[in-house]
Amino acid sequence: PHALHAPSAPHLPEAADEAPAPGSVTLIIPTFNESGNIDELLSRLAAALPAHLPVSVLFVDDSTDDTPAVIEKAALDCAFPVEVLHRESPDGGLGGAVVEGIGRADTDWIVVMDADLQHPPHLVPELVGEGARTGADLVVASRYIAGGSRAGLAGNYRIAVSRGATWLTKGLFPRALRGISDPMSGFFAMRRSAVTEEALKPLGYKILLELAVRCRPARVAEVPFVFQDRFSGESKSTAREGLRFLTHLASLRSSTPLARMIGFGLIGLSGFVPNLAALWMLTHTGMNYLVAEVVANQAGVLWNFLLIETLLFRDRRRHRHWADRLGRFTLLANADLLLRIPLIAVFVGTWGFGVLSATALALVTTFVLRFAATEALVYLP
Ligand code: GDD
Ligand code: MN
Repeated sequence: PHALHAPSAPHLPEAADEAPAPGSVTLIIPTFNESGNIDELLSRLAAALPAHLPVSVLFVDDSTDDTPAVIEKAALDCAFPVEVLHRESPDGGLGGAVVEGIGRADTDWIVVMDADLQHPPHLVPELVGEGARTGADLVVASRYIAGGSRAGLAGNYRIAVSRGATWLTKGLFPRALRGISDPMSGFFAMRRSAVTEEALKPLGYKILLELAVRCRPARVAEVPFVFQDRFSGESKSTAREGLRFLTHLASLRSSTPLARMIGFGLIGLSGFVPNLAALWMLTHTGMNYLVAEVVANQAGVLWNFLLIETLLFRDRRRHRHWADRLGRFTLLANADLLLRIPLIAVFVGTWGFGVLSATALALVTTFVLRFAATEALVYLP
């Protein structure tokens, strides 16, 4: 990593009618091949940052082009400190880069913004000023409050996807996102003291969502902004990033044992579809239906395994080899079936239950047992 320091602007006492001195700021800018935007970005920042606001800029870079060199050259002419942290292993993508930047920041505030000028630089002091004025721990630049919007032609399809994703996310995290109209925004200010770094597991683009859900800032505020067109280059977001977002949502949603158990149950229910489809195909090829039942059940088990691996226990996979996990998972799933019959016999024979209620109770019992065993024996915490 390279570090460059330019003399920091002197901290002047503010006039009486101004907002209270908002404290020091680290402006974290993640970059991935943005060399065409750097000069314009830094000169617009220079015009936007008032002399009394102590801002230092930290680029966290995962580029494969000459972006770090371009930054270092441009930094020589800057009135504020500019540093580049180039990462050799770009873990976590955009979110991972921002969290690495937060780890380096020892200022009162961090502000996160994109490098492509879609986020207007003149709002940086406004975000921090709003936080100081309202006492908020998190100030979000929002496209979805009065005065905010998306400039230019974004296309109806993209807008619909973006709105849909926002509603889904707000529906999944109603409490954590109360007061945040634009949880997908990549432009925000947060008090450094409100970031609980050990709780973070960043994954991809939605770093604001990660911080809001896992750190639970006590007070939030919003400032409207107009999302601009990209200045130079192209978006780095891909279809793969969309899948990563769904994985990120699942990871955020399954942080408590109860939520994980519900997820486990829903995935289990979805397994009926491949199970029945396989049963239909196998009996149509003339296989004996009892043999087909056993084989088709494995299709459901495999489906459940894949979903659980990607959505529920993504961050607990490293403890065992995948074949080991698959073997254990399959054994547990089939043991569940085998255990159910004697359990039903006990519930009916010894406890005097009716067949239906005995079956329901056995289903619930083996489900809870299987969930607990899967957590403990397949995916160690
Ligand atoms: N270090 C690093 N590593 N930076 C990255 C990476 C990465 O893997 N991927 C992207 N970036 C940087 C880009 O260089 C840019 O500065 C910023 O992150 C945003 O990337 P874009 O590719 O321009 O994203 P976008 O315009 O599609 O999405 C933006 O707007 C969305 C709202 O519509 C982002 O701000 C999203 O977070 C936001 O949800
Ligand atoms: Mn962009």
